[in-house]
Amino acid sequence: MSFVFNPMDPEFLRDPYPVYTRLRNESPVLRHPAGFHIVSRYEGVEAVLRDATTFSSAAMGGGMRANDSGGKPIVIGGSLIGQDPPVHTEQRAIVNRGFTPRRMAALEPRIRSVIEELFAKFEHTGRVELTGQFASPLPVTVIAELLGLDAERRDDFKRWSGTLVVASTSPGQMGSPELLRTSREFRTYLSEVIEERRAHPGSDLVSVLIHAEQQEGVLDAEQLLQFASLLLVAGSETTMNLIGNAVLALLDHPEVFEWVLEDLDRLPGVIEETLRWDSPVQLLMRLTTCETELGGVTIPKGAPVMPLLASANRDEERFPDAQRFDPERNSAGHLAFGFGNHFCLGASLARLETRCALESVLGRLRELQLDGETVERHGSFLIRGPKALPLRFASAA
Ligand code: HEM
Repeated sequence: MSFVFNPMDPEFLRDPYPVYTRLRNESPVLRHPAGFHIVSRYEGVEAVLRDATTFSSAAMGGGMRANDSGGKPIVIGGSLIGQDPPVHTEQRAIVNRGFTPRRMAALEPRIRSVIEELFAKFEHTGRVELTGQFASPLPVTVIAELLGLDAERRDDFKRWSGTLVVASTSPGQMGSPELLRTSREFRTYLSEVIEERRAHPGSDLVSVLIHAEQQEGVLDAEQLLQFASLLLVAGSETTMNLIGNAVLALLDHPEVFEWVLEDLDRLPGVIEETLRWDSPVQLLMRLTTCETELGGVTIPKGAPVMPLLASANRDEERFPDAQRFDPERNSAGHLAFGFGNHFCLGASLARLETRCALESVLGRLRELQLDGETVERHGSFLIRGPKALPLRFASAA
């Protein structure tokens, strides 16, 4: 291999896809000098995610973890996402109760009313910074309400979840004092909410989790706190970027944009293709529990393994003409929500929120275009999406 894979390289962070192509072609299971193994072909990524016995999730959350020497950190990786069976199976069954298809479908009217509230602030102005004014507050508000948190504090939730996911996987920000301070603030807030909900339970998700702690002994108090944090973070940063990536993809492909404007029922195809073509979660982490072989490479026990979801989704062997954005293709089988026992708990919620969001953005903001020359992406190798998305449009009549 003639180049060193550096996930911190600004050029890579701007556009990782050429590097993924080289990895798939030249070294589909690459041992990085830092000791981790990067898996870039669809077949390999799927094999890793399928085999939770060999590839443990104990490594998940490593990058999201804020090491805190002073107080206890918020550790997302200590929750569901970092567990293996049988503990994972038990915990997953609990949160599944809060994410039933019925509960999700019932959210649609509320999602639409949050969209109305957000649109009211900018629809008449002809301008919007879509990430900050819309794509971020929408999922934060929805997940906060599901958890029974005070949606008025959504600016804080946004700051906390953004710092924990994006800043903790961005060069120069890992372990920073800002990250540690944010982590402590978040813990203090959630601890207070949990105490209050113990005294006054409701029908929200935090109450569901407290019930599991008190009645069934499945969760301890620390796990409960981590669980609530995971849901808040996983439910906001990801969907925000799916909305942004979809709008960017459409602006970059005017013919597709026209095609979808003719019939907004085509949006589900656009959403699935965006998930495949420009995945909001670019990669995952696993840890080998024994020596194993993958794609002809021997991986020792205890080695970190990095399955590149976004690269697997661009694998020509799996998706013909994979580099092309084509919402009419069959994108089923994309790995943007993961695969196997940790398959995204919020996939249907994310799809619902994004469909409602894009229906309004495309259906109501006429002559939509970028307000500026370039769009800055997040500087994170884990999460991909526009940091800010300034748009102009013709104000509604
Ligand atoms: C576009 C939006 C989203 C994307 C791309 C996404 C992506 C993912 C991926 C790739 C995983 C697998 C992690 C692994 O295998 O280690 C995952 C897991 C998870 N996601 Fe999502 N997610 C999205 C939205 C959401 C939402 C809205 C929620 C919650 C409301 C959510 C909650 C979770 C949870 C709790 C897990 C852990 C599941 C487990 O460990 O069993 N996600 N997500």
